[in-house]
Amino acid sequence: MGVAISGPKLAGHVAKCGGIGTIASVGLACNTPYYNGKNYFEANQIAVKEGIKEAREIAGPSGVIAVNCMVALTDYDRHVRSACEGGVDVIISGAGLPLRLPEYAKDYPDVALVPIVSSVKAASLIARRWEKTYGKVPDGFVMETPRYAGGHLGVLKMEQVDDDAFSLEKVVPELVEFVAKELGKDIPVIAAGGIWDKKDMEWAFGLGAKGVQIGTRFACTFEGDAADRFKQAYIDARADDVVLIQSPAGLPGRVLRSPFVEKYLQGVVESKPCIANCLTHCRYKSERETFCIAQALIDAFRGNWEEGLFFCGSNVTRVDKMVHVSDIMKELFPE
Ligand SMILES: Cc1cc2nc3c(=O)[nH]c(=O)nc-3n(C[C@H](O)[C@H](O)[C@H](O)COP(=O)(O)O)c2cc1C
Repeated sequence: MGVAISGPKLAGHVAKCGGIGTIASVGLACNTPYYNGKNYFEANQIAVKEGIKEAREIAGPSGVIAVNCMVALTDYDRHVRSACEGGVDVIISGAGLPLRLPEYAKDYPDVALVPIVSSVKAASLIARRWEKTYGKVPDGFVMETPRYAGGHLGVLKMEQVDDDAFSLEKVVPELVEFVAKELGKDIPVIAAGGIWDKKDMEWAFGLGAKGVQIGTRFACTFEGDAADRFKQAYIDARADDVVLIQSPAGLPGRVLRSPFVEKYLQGVVESKPCIANCLTHCRYKSERETFCIAQALIDAFRGNWEEGLFFCGSNVTRVDKMVHVSDIMKELFPE
């Protein structure tokens, strides 16, 4: 969860409890001493490597750490390389098709490469390209449904968000079959979007998933990296506070109706300046429409309710207090 919502602390604690702790690499330096206001890209590469180190210190030697790298970033290749150089175990990559991911990670064959998809078509495109160009099979797929997930959603149009064609119940079994038949390798499909408790998890396993990726529930933990005001916004959220917006990156996103979003929905654009040309496709950069999403997400991370863009999954309405990561993990895996 970017920007910096799942940083080294949250990832480290999830890994310490036996999960795969995932650090979002996007904008990670924003709250570190490495960033001086001018060196956005360089500082971020240091923050990724140091973040992996910090997460490992919390997790201990057997902890598994992943880094989420967004394909839509202008310096995507550097995010992947820095994560590999920092000794990450897994790279999870979406917000676009990670067609060249194996090239950027080629010197690190032990790093597992896991694309995020929302359809079998996308998975198939990635798998075919990887096989043809790099002789490499993905090490897993995260199937994320736009119906419930937070952040940028993996469809182009608003009306596709709730389309059954992108639901877990439709795509997970199809993807499991595709992997077994077409790739001939036992690689896990991981379900994401709207998973909250053990019942949801077992339902996903019943569809054929071998794992789940959970975002929203972990954002509001004591160990979560965001400011307390960010977490309070999650606690306060009711169903009609959750809205979809068209983001500057050209994708729908699920967010809280903060004052900033309220104004945006009414057509008032009040943006801080472009922070660093961070997205390959950005309507704010190219047409001065929308807003600088990096600045708005950093504001949310810092707990600036007035000016922040608070990404959330639809499960945000179930968040009613701050909890410990270990309590969530014990509830999910009592045995
Ligand atoms: C605050 C927030 C930020 C997110 N940022 C990212 C991101 O940077 N990259 C990404 O691939 N997914 C991102 N996501 C999606 C999550 O990784 C996750 O797949 C999704 O939210 C799962 O659904 P859930 O929140 O219902 O558990 C974000 C989600 C949230 C809530």
